[in-house]
Amino acid sequence: FTNAGMNQFKDVFLCTGSRDYTRAANSQKCIRAGGKHNDLEDVGTDTYHHTFFEMLGNWSFGDYFKAEAIEWAWELLTQRWGIDPSRLHATYFQGDEHEGLAPDDEARNFWRRFLPDERIHKGNKKDNFWEMGDTGPCGPCSEIHYDGTPDKNGDAFINKDNPNVIEIWNLVFMQYNRDSGGKLSALPAKHVDTGMGLERITRILQGKQSNYDTDLFTQILNAIGILCNQQYTGTMEKKDIAFRVIADHLRTLVFAITDGCTPSNDGR
Ligand code: SER
Repeated sequence: FTNAGMNQFKDVFLCTGSRDYTRAANSQKCIRAGGKHNDLEDVGTDTYHHTFFEMLGNWSFGDYFKAEAIEWAWELLTQRWGIDPSRLHATYFQGDEHEGLAPDDEARNFWRRFLPDERIHKGNKKDNFWEMGDTGPCGPCSEIHYDGTPDKNGDAFINKDNPNVIEIWNLVFMQYNRDSGGKLSALPAKHVDTGMGLERITRILQGKQSNYDTDLFTQILNAIGILCNQQYTGTMEKKDIAFRVIADHLRTLVFAITDGCTPSNDGR
């Protein structure tokens, strides 16, 4: 299992391997229950993190770059899927002096073709520079967030752990490689790695407030309820947190077992 959709393409980004295509779109089974991208502690206590999720991605291997990635993301969300454009916000990398990285004004300017300035937000290295681990291919990223607040006042809540204002898609512009000494060097070519959580986009397209209220989870929650003689009511109370934790972990384990993992009480 990987923690992101990009891991199996690492060799292509580093130019140590290749495929017979330069563009791809996929759905990648991801588990984030340890390591750098670990969502385990958030699971259940919120409505939108999971130990297992399906990451929908589109890829450019030295082919298209920022302009197309941004334009096509916008087209898919607003024109194909009909998401209200006034609920969408984008972020871009603000740069990092210590790393010697300039702000990603290019991404910012591409977003200006679709969004007003007040819905384009800068973000620091933690949120807007994507790395799969301590070393490897990486680059600035531009996230798309959905404002699900009743009066669309989510501006102040971007990346602030608000359950109604959530990131739905991350567009990563792979440009660098980080070596074991922490130094960044330019990759031989520029690539695109995007990741959108199936569970989150399903929630938006189904008009729900919680990933657990989508049809990816309701049958699991119902089955747990029957076994426990309890009912899931979607609150932040302990009982409902437990429901969400069990539903999430069951799903993770079912996918893991069907992919050949044998769970045990020893190690990960
Ligand atoms: N690698 C990025 C992420 O996991 C985008 O796919 O968020």
